[in-house]
Order: sequence, then structure tokens, then C-alpha cells
Amino acid sequence: MVELFNFNYVKFRGDFMKAIILSGGNGTRLYPITKAISKQLVPVYDKPMIYYPLSTVMLTGIKDVLIITNPEYVELYRNLLKDGSHIGINIQYAIQTEPRGLADAFIVGERFIDGDKSMLILGDNIFYGQGFGAMLRKAASLEKGAVIFGYYVKDPRPYGVVEFDEQGNVISIEEKPERPKSNYAIPGLYFYDEKVVEFAKSLKPSARGELEITDLNRKYLEIGELKVELFGRGFTWLDMGTYDGLLEAANFVETIQKRQGFYIGCIEEVAFRMGYIDREQLYKLGKEMEKTDYGRYLMDLANGVRE
Ligand code: DAU
Repeated sequence: MVELFNFNYVKFRGDFMKAIILSGGNGTRLYPITKAISKQLVPVYDKPMIYYPLSTVMLTGIKDVLIITNPEYVELYRNLLKDGSHIGINIQYAIQTEPRGLADAFIVGERFIDGDKSMLILGDNIFYGQGFGAMLRKAASLEKGAVIFGYYVKDPRPYGVVEFDEQGNVISIEEKPERPKSNYAIPGLYFYDEKVVEFAKSLKPSARGELEITDLNRKYLEIGELKVELFGRGFTWLDMGTYDGLLEAANFVETIQKRQGFYIGCIEEVAFRMGYIDREQLYKLGKEMEKTDYGRYLMDLANGVRE
């Protein structure tokens, strides 16, 4: 990670910040897979897609989580993740009736955020790399303003794109530009201070009719409070919103898990390692799935293997 600015950080305490996982949208880019099911519940190798962003939230140290999804899917998410107490966190659910844009998450989630700082992660983004937990906790300890990330990609056109000068000052951010001013895409992971709800409410829908996250970030840029941190080339960020992205993510997870024996996006493991659940609870969760490698992995961890 390259640090571009020296912002003031306070020691992070998870109870100052809330996390939102945005799991709505129509998933039309994955049709017919997502005609009858929410995209973020689709399997990515051995677990539902939402496990990956949820594990990221948990690694940050945030225990209050809001999952925003479509009315027809909310019960499916509740069946899967319940109130989160089995993995030591609090999960609430909210409905987004129409895909009004990523920034709409802060309007739908206003009561949940309740004047605190917040983290937003897209339900179809997967992140993986050494030192990620520390990076997350640092970003989450922001005192004021916003922290977003930059990731070098060959073709940044399908993403938000950030341009910065030699000193690392952000010059511009653009959503899906035809002629990108840099190769740095902005992944779907954002940290904001308390102003985010007010800023989201002041946005006007874009030409494609959405409240754009890029416009929200531009508000912070305009007041000089937007910080961008770069992920290095050894870091993995994948967007699972297309056929190729979905398959690439599944292959990536399979490769790492088989090679190293460590799991990616394993929410029960993160809960244990973060101290949210004890060994006994981890074993119990594994036992419920003991016919699978996943279940046996949890039982092994509880028994002290891979410590
Ligand atoms: O993946 C990172 C990119 O995500 C960023 O670089 C872009 O700046 C950002 O706009 C976004 O671009 P996408 O084109 O990938 O956004 P998409 O419309 O696919 O929505 C991302 C996820 O959020 C998707 O899983 C569906 C969900 N979603 C989307 C909208 C518009 C919602 O839950 N509600 C919504 O209203």
C-alpha cells in the first residue's frame, strides 16, 4: 500500500463505525443466472458471494452490519446469516425497492447509521492480500473526511477512475470514463465520516438515473477531505458482477485454498480470529457442516490446526 496523504487517524474502535453491504441491483449482467436469485447469493467456489465482502467488514473490526437488498430476497439473506449472533456480530436488513445507485445506501441506511461514521462495501467485490486487515483498520480510524482506494487495472473504463498528481493529490474522479485519465480503478470499498448521509441526500441522479458514488466522493474531494490509498500489485481485487469475473473469482479462491489450505472469505474463521466467538462455538458451527471440507476446516481450526 502506498500512502498518498497524511491524514490524522485516531485509534480505531469498531463501535464508532457502521458497515453497509450493498446487495441489491437487478444483476442483469449475470442473466439468466440471476433471474430468480440475488446475485450476491450466487456461489463463488464453496461459499455464497456475500461471504467475501462480509468477511472484509468483519476483518475491519466493525460489528454492526446492514445488508441492503431487494424486497424479494431479504428473507433469503436472513435465512443465511440470521442476526449474526452465531458469528458474534449484529446484522440488520434493509430494503432498496429500486436500484437507485450506490450512494442511495446512505439514504436507505440513515437510521441504521444514526450519526456515526460508516463503511460501504459492494456485495460483489472480493479483496484479498497480506496486510489487508491492518489497512482496513487504519482506513476505518479516519477522523474526518473519506477514504477510498485505487487499484491499477489494464482497462479502467468499467469503473470509477481516480487521477492524481506526482505528489499523490487527487485531481479528478470520474465514473466509467470513455477516455480514462489514469489506470487506477476505484474498488467498491469506501469509508466515510458522519457527513455522508447529508452529502448523499444532496446528490442529483446521473444521466443513467443513479445516485453515483463517484459524485458523493467528489463532494469530499471538493472540500479537500478525500483520501485515496493504493493497493499494490500483489493485492487481489475482483468484481464478480460478470460471467468472467465470477469464474475468475471462483478459480482464484479454489487455487489459493487448495494450495495453502487457508480459506478466503470464511466468516466463521474471521469471527474466531477477531475474538468474536470462542473455540467451542467455532467447533459447533463446523460440526453443522461436517460433511463438507468447509465444515471440517472450521473443526480443524477449533482444534488448533493452522494456528
Ligand atoms: O466495482 C467497483 C465499481 O462499482 C466502482 O468502480 C464504480 O465507481 C461504482 O459505480 C460501481 O460500478 P458498477 O458498474 O460495478 O456498479 P453496479 O451498478 O454494478 O453496482 C455494484 C453493486 O451494487 C452490484 O452488486 C449491485 C449493487 N447495487 C447497485 C445499484 C446501482 C445495489 O445494491 N443497488 C443499486 O442501486
